[in-house]
Amino acid sequence: MRKPVVLITGAAGEIGHALIDHLVADGGQAIITVDLRPLEPEFDAKVTRAFAGSILDHALLESIQAEYAVDRIFHLAALLSTRSEFTPVAAHEVNVRGTLNLLEFAAAQTRSHGAPVTFFYPSSIAAYGIPAGIEAPPTGWTEIEHTLPTTMYGCNKLYCEHLGRYYAHHYKQLDAQPQAGHVDFRSLRFPGLISAHTVPSGGTSDYAPDMIHAAAQGQAYECFVRPDTRIPFMAMPDAVDAILALSAAPREQLTQSVYNLTAFDPTADEIRSLVLQAFPKANIGYTIDEKRQRIVDSWPQRVNDTAAREDWGLAPRYDLDAAFGEYLIPIIAGRYAAG
Ligand code: SER
Repeated sequence: MRKPVVLITGAAGEIGHALIDHLVADGGQAIITVDLRPLEPEFDAKVTRAFAGSILDHALLESIQAEYAVDRIFHLAALLSTRSEFTPVAAHEVNVRGTLNLLEFAAAQTRSHGAPVTFFYPSSIAAYGIPAGIEAPPTGWTEIEHTLPTTMYGCNKLYCEHLGRYYAHHYKQLDAQPQAGHVDFRSLRFPGLISAHTVPSGGTSDYAPDMIHAAAQGQAYECFVRPDTRIPFMAMPDAVDAILALSAAPREQLTQSVYNLTAFDPTADEIRSLVLQAFPKANIGYTIDEKRQRIVDSWPQRVNDTAAREDWGLAPRYDLDAAFGEYLIPIIAGRYAAG
């Protein structure tokens, strides 16, 4: 009997850390992880096995296939948007080929244990490409509007949304024998995420978390986008709650495979003001990077998450003030004060 487990790829990243903690707190199933980087020691103890390796390594995936019965996959491994723009071919390898490998892995698991594997895939507001000068409607853009991304990362995310839908509904549709079951693909288009515990690397929405973490450490920060730049954000605990809520929702309630979600849409200057309220000595200026600005300008100012609220009860706990007052500032200030 192979051992039933949850598989998390990219487990050493921002979302991975938070997700491991929530899954452990839920007292659920054994967790195995794959990441190029070793897990922090405190997370190592929380998982059954941490594979240090690449999602592009077929031998590694085959050995996991042979040893474990994986019934849920959280496929988080990716290169973020800024890094992907510097290394587009590497981004395609990791973000697209890596995802294809994991979808094949999930299809094989589905065949072997005869029940659909739940496959969670984090997409992004980078899947949008909003034409210059168009204001978002007050209710935000829906999932199907303006999806002509301008970044490699955004193209990768949008294509993998389609790949997931293909594996879930149309996989090998011309085979003589109908497929015994399909991968149960579910995806969220995340806004910028802000964690009190970690700082992201290689993202373009990083100006918000960077501003907060720099101020808490008494470091100056130059924000690379204009003060009036507006995109949606969410606090990390709400992002993880949403992943788990979508993953647990009864299949028949889901009317789409990809859902928008959002919590608040501040301008960069609104974030700066909140940081200054908490850390009055913070030194935050603006040195605009026009190229990165163009990328953020191609992302939506607001998104419409009605489908997520109606289908599976998306209900973020933290609005902008609560995210700062009750989550980010107390934890971040304590963390750096403790050294
Ligand atoms: N927040 C991510 C980034 O900036 C997009 O998903 O790359």
